[in-house]
Amino acid sequence: MIAQATINDLVRAARQAGQRAYAPYSHYQVGAAALAASGRIYTGCNVENASYGLTVCAERVAVWTAIAAGEREIVAVAVATPNGATPCGACRQVLAEFAAGKEPAGRDMMVIVVTTDGYETLYLHDLLPHAFLPQDLNRT
Ligand code: THU
Repeated sequence: MIAQATINDLVRAARQAGQRAYAPYSHYQVGAAALAASGRIYTGCNVENASYGLTVCAERVAVWTAIAAGEREIVAVAVATPNGATPCGACRQVLAEFAAGKEPAGRDMMVIVVTTDGYETLYLHDLLPHAFLPQDLNRT
């Protein structure tokens, strides 16, 4: 259960982070805010590159910032785009690696899809069913 005030904080933080996007090629600004198990919020924006393929999505910048700060579990992530897009496939896989996973299946990580005038709450399990997870490496 994530408090409404916390969801509001994540929505605000994702929108703010999107304003710092470095997107001179696509002009598509994305901001992300990840809520870690500690209760701290980490943000990221998309960072593009003249060598286009090196671009990194906002979600991954937020996750990597959290991990670099010592976090290992992320309970929610808000993603702010101009038009309410959901995280790309690569980011879904990166998010799955750090999903808290203590809640029932389907409610493992809240994904808050933010637009300029509202938001919608989804769950990572629905966006990436049958994800490849760390425990899959132990299967024979
Ligand atoms: N982008 C993100 O930051 N997150 C996504 O989930 C989808 C795409 C960025 C990458 C690139 O800078 C721009 O949006 C257009 O693809």
